[in-house]
Formats: sequence, structure tokens, C-alpha cells
Amino acid sequence: MFKIRFFLIGAFTTLTVNAQLEKNEFVSGEIWKDTNGTHINAHGGGFLFYKNTYYWFGEHKIAGSQGNSAMVGVGVYASKDLYHWENKGIASAVTEDKNSLIQKGCIIERPKVIYNKHTDKFVMWFHHELKGQGYEAALTGVAIADTITGPYTYLKSFRVHPKVLPQNFSEAQFLKAKPINNRKDENWKQKVIDGAYFVRDFEEGQMSRDMTLFVDDDDVAYHITASEENQTLLISKLSDDYLSLTHEYIRVFPGGRNEAPAIFKKDGKYYMFSSGLTGWSPNPAKLAVSDKMMGDWTYLGNPCKGSEKEKNTTFWSQSTYVLPVQGKKEAFIFMADRWQPKNPIDGRYVWLPVQFKKEIPFLEWFDSWDLSFFDN
Ligand code: DGJ
Repeated sequence: MFKIRFFLIGAFTTLTVNAQLEKNEFVSGEIWKDTNGTHINAHGGGFLFYKNTYYWFGEHKIAGSQGNSAMVGVGVYASKDLYHWENKGIASAVTEDKNSLIQKGCIIERPKVIYNKHTDKFVMWFHHELKGQGYEAALTGVAIADTITGPYTYLKSFRVHPKVLPQNFSEAQFLKAKPINNRKDENWKQKVIDGAYFVRDFEEGQMSRDMTLFVDDDDVAYHITASEENQTLLISKLSDDYLSLTHEYIRVFPGGRNEAPAIFKKDGKYYMFSSGLTGWSPNPAKLAVSDKMMGDWTYLGNPCKGSEKEKNTTFWSQSTYVLPVQGKKEAFIFMADRWQPKNPIDGRYVWLPVQFKKEIPFLEWFDSWDLSFFDN
């Protein structure tokens, strides 16, 4: 009797999982099961299309509030069609070694992986905080692998651009700026814009928190990160091997308070989705455009259309990536996280098609949608 019941439960579970997978649609905010029937665990994700397969890298979270720290590492999933995701395991694991910077309990967020054609290596960058130090370290980390699913070898973590001036901040501006640390300082915002945190961190290197990578059509790669206490973004050109930052970098939207940058390119223009600064809680998204990655960026406002609540919370989510869909023209998916800080493993995913009106990208909610959306 027990065996029969067990068999029936097993068969029923398989049927339910398969029925869901058969749907071939994106239902944002729901549990997204992998091909084993387990909720996909890859938060703050980054995507890479390689040899006809999409790979999804993300923070592997665990249950309970300690799941906001890296207790396992970075997970990776693979899919041919963006609907069915196979768990490929942990691409980059934290270690039990208490002397290691990537020891269990540190913070590893928003991992992004890019492939370097010249070195034939996969390179992962991530936001890295040291164990027991909250978000104070503000480092960017780098790991490398010979195969896309890993294992990735951890190389280094660092503050960015010590003792180097950005291209759009002159020596005269630098000499004029005075360091501050006190948000209650009169004219605080203007002082931040003028470089108060920048000069404070000049010797040690600039802070790097929420980050992403973008590889351009000419294979030049860029690192985009929230710096200066999250008040200012920095965009830096990577070295040819994608393992370091060059000295070429710019400050973008000083004092603009952007997190969660996600970049895509369409018709020669670069677009950046970002969020405001409210911890794990959602806030209104922002959109910006530029003719060059290292050029002047212009705000285009909130890209979300819908109810006030949807616009004020970005459909209750925070951006992490924009994925160009292969084989479809001008098809981009806005990808975001619906964080669950009290039980991070239960975090959900919001994927919406990027739409365009008079060439300006916008987002609206769909209860469910599929890739045929882009065929219209
Ligand atoms: C918002 C960031 O975008 C997340 O990646 C994470 O760092 C949280 N803040 C932490 O509060």
C-alpha cells in the first residue's frame, strides 16, 4: 500500500512539474521551477549566451535571513529556450577557509559572466563584501574558468581606481573638492556631486557595490558600478583579457543615487535601467541613454507604465540584467529580482519584454507572456 501511494505521489509530482514546464511562458513573481521541479535559485542574475545555450548565473540563497550572505556561492542554470532551466550546480563556491576573502558568510551579489574570445576564458565579476563587515568593504571581485559552468577560480577583490582620476573629472575639480563623511553636512548633495566621497576614497580606491558588465559589439567590455556611497555610478573599460579595469573610466550621474544598473544597446544607442536606493525594498526604476558607453548619459525618466503602485515599485522588483533574445530582432528582456530579505531563497523573478515607443524603451506588466511577443 505504502509503495503504491508513494508511486502515485511521485507520478503526480512529475505530472504537475511537467505541466508547468509545458506552458512555455513567463509568469513573473511566481515560483519558477527548474527541470527538477525546484524553484530556481539564481538571484541578482547575469546571463550569457554561449554555443546555442543561455546560461543564468546568480546568487544561490538559503532560507532565513542569513541567506542574504553567501553561504554557498554562485549557481548556474542552462536553457535552450529560456523557459526550461537545468540546474548545472554551483559555478563558484564560497570556502570554509577562514583566511579566504570568499569564505562562507561573506556577501557575493549580482554575479555577471562574460566570455573572452582571445583567451578562451569565462570571467565572472561580482559585488563582494567581506565577512562580518556589512557593506563597508565595497569591493568588486573577479573569478575565472575554462568552462562556462565552472568551477571558477577566485582571483581577487579590490576597490576600484586608486589614485586615478576619471576622464570627466579634472584635476582642478579634484583639488577643489573637500572630503566629507557626514550626511547632515549642509549642501551634502552638492558636495557629493563636486566629489566629496570621491576625494575621500581617492587613495584607497573608489567603492564598488551594485555592478554589471556589458560587452560591446567590438568586444570591448565595461564594468558599471555604484560608487561613492551609492551616490554615483562609475563606468570603466576592462582590460583586453577582461580580468582588470583599465584607467579609462567616467563618473556618471554624480549624486544621482543609482543602484542595480543593467545595460543594453539598440540602434547604436546605449540604454541603462537602474533603480533608486532603498535597500531590499523596491522603488521607481530609472532609464538613461547615451551615444557612447563612456559618453554623456541623459536621464529619460521612469520607464514603467501602469498603476501608480507599479510605477513606484517597478512592478515590485529591482533590475539585474537586460537580455537580448537570440534570433529575434530588437527583442530584449528586462530581468529583475523581487527580493525576499527575510527568506531570500524565496526571492522571485520578474521578466518583462522591453517595448519601444518612438524609440524610447518602456516596460509594462504582463500576468504572463512568451517569446512570440517579439514576433509582432
Ligand atoms: C540593493 C542592492 O541592489 C542589492 O543587490 C543588495 O545589495 C541590497 N541593496 C542590500 O540591501
